[in-house]
Amino acid sequence: YTITVDSGATGPAISDEMYGVFFEDINYAADGGLYAELVRNRSFEFQSADNQSYTGLTGWAATGTAATVDDDARLNERNRTYLRLTGPGSITNAGYNSGIALEKGERYDFSVWARSDTAGTPLTITLATTGGAALATPIKINVKGDTWVRYAGSLRATATSDSGRLSVSTTGAGTTRLDMVSLFPRDTYKGHGLRRDLAEKVAALRPGFVRFPGGCLVNTGSHYAYDAASNFPRARSYQWKDTVGPVETRGTNANFWGYNQSYGLGYFEYFQFSEDIGAAPLPVVPALVTGCGQNRATDDPALLRRHIQDTLDLIEFANGPATSTWGRVRAQMGHPKPFGLTMVAVGNEENLPEEYFANFLQFRDAIKAKHPGVTVISNSGPDDMGVTFDNLWAKNRAAGTEMVDEHYYNSPNWFLQNNERYDSYDRNGPKVFLGEYASQDAKFFNSLSEAAYMTGLERNADVVRMASYAPLLANIDNVQWRPDLIWFDNDESWGSTSYQMQKLFMTNVGDRVVPSSVSGGRVVQPQPVTGRVGLSTWRTAARYDDLKVTAPDGTVLLEDNFDDGNADGWSPIENRGTWTVADGAYAQTDATAENTMVAAAANITATDYDISVKATK
Ligand code: AHR
Repeated sequence: YTITVDSGATGPAISDEMYGVFFEDINYAADGGLYAELVRNRSFEFQSADNQSYTGLTGWAATGTAATVDDDARLNERNRTYLRLTGPGSITNAGYNSGIALEKGERYDFSVWARSDTAGTPLTITLATTGGAALATPIKINVKGDTWVRYAGSLRATATSDSGRLSVSTTGAGTTRLDMVSLFPRDTYKGHGLRRDLAEKVAALRPGFVRFPGGCLVNTGSHYAYDAASNFPRARSYQWKDTVGPVETRGTNANFWGYNQSYGLGYFEYFQFSEDIGAAPLPVVPALVTGCGQNRATDDPALLRRHIQDTLDLIEFANGPATSTWGRVRAQMGHPKPFGLTMVAVGNEENLPEEYFANFLQFRDAIKAKHPGVTVISNSGPDDMGVTFDNLWAKNRAAGTEMVDEHYYNSPNWFLQNNERYDSYDRNGPKVFLGEYASQDAKFFNSLSEAAYMTGLERNADVVRMASYAPLLANIDNVQWRPDLIWFDNDESWGSTSYQMQKLFMTNVGDRVVPSSVSGGRVVQPQPVTGRVGLSTWRTAARYDDLKVTAPDGTVLLEDNFDDGNADGWSPIENRGTWTVADGAYAQTDATAENTMVAAAANITATDYDISVKATK
């Protein structure tokens, strides 16, 4: 190849916010991940509504007469369930992954809310191996009486372990109630409660922005508030007011990704983390239209008005003076200075474009009327380059939207073949925020294809203003989505090859594009497709259903209806299969019994086929 660089010409400026990160609580990214809390199910709020395998004692082993109870003696209206010990007994927490990770010599801060009908009831707190060998000198606490009080102490680890257990025991004869049993490493990122190694890996990318808290997490589920009137619905959409204030008042929720989610890592922590790593915060608020396999839009104008007001309150929480209603909440949480929020995204991959866009306009108008300087980001729905995508782009263009969020997860070939995607975008239309993208699979070739693609993003930096790879974090034992950028267990973390690639780009962002052209070389033929086609199918489909793979001559290679037996209208991730194409054969290698493959072979060669993957309702 010959690359000709026109050093005399000036291309578009590249913003400092060009590359950022997208944090979503998927793959246990928050609890057991970035949020440094070491105790799993610290507030005993796990319930089968979150995940069928849960009970109030998930994560715990108990001796004596221990029971989880939700009655009038509860800690507060949101933190409803507590642990009751009648007489002597103990509870032991197994933490995440193989257990509680401890490092010799480091301090661990313990706290618990407790009450007892017998004043002076003793509590003993121990850290030990699974075999019972001490990992710290135990601490003792005397419970003063029968009102909830927070007790705290600190333990210094006497040995390093990746499988420690925390126990709280009592010899008291009365009724002892415990809640919010917590253990934090003293050493967290900038002292702000986030796991150091993970936060440092994110910080090392020098992100220009942090998009949070999702993703599908944001707009799916109930849009009602977490209050008694709505019967404490589980699986609520992510509503920021649930997530701020004293941690024991925050409650927990059924996560869209199938597990219990505490709000220990909440909006204050997201803003603070963004500030700590020098990135602009970019919250995503629910638009009251669901996406991600759900097809609902609210028909309740009062609910819509409440969410719009919540968004205005969010801006006040971030930017208002400490004397304002929500600025005061921020100040009380330890940050009197405003966070300097400049962008808000409304919604994520909504399935109903008409309803979504009508709501988006209401959000935008209300935000702009009060905060004209805040950029309000719209999106392009779930089907990249499909009907909804075109429809939403047309609406965004006509409405003069400032920025549109696009998402796609595709094969490496797709990334190589679409380097010019943005060359033809309207220079006078909305700017692009590429909020989620990844080349499927986690091989080096995927990362190379992302790098090649990112040169196309930069070349079009006048249109593509921001981009973030997704998802960011994955606990190796709890994976709902892959590939992911940073992997971890309870005491180790490592970046994927795409992490290294992102780091290369993100820590070397230029000021301006220098125009260049390429000539010569040879045209690389598309490579055989090996890997997950399911994800890209989902990206291009209104529903992840009825997958069809067709060769250029029209031969249908396979059809799959992904029938999982649920009447929910879409297929869960676990039903995705992996398909491999080799010369003359097309095989699904990990089909589940529920899937149906109707054609498995075709006369194709590794170099001349061009497979299109389509999904329809
Ligand atoms: O990044 C994982 C998921 O992909 C996000 O939650 C969603 O927005 C997208 O479909």
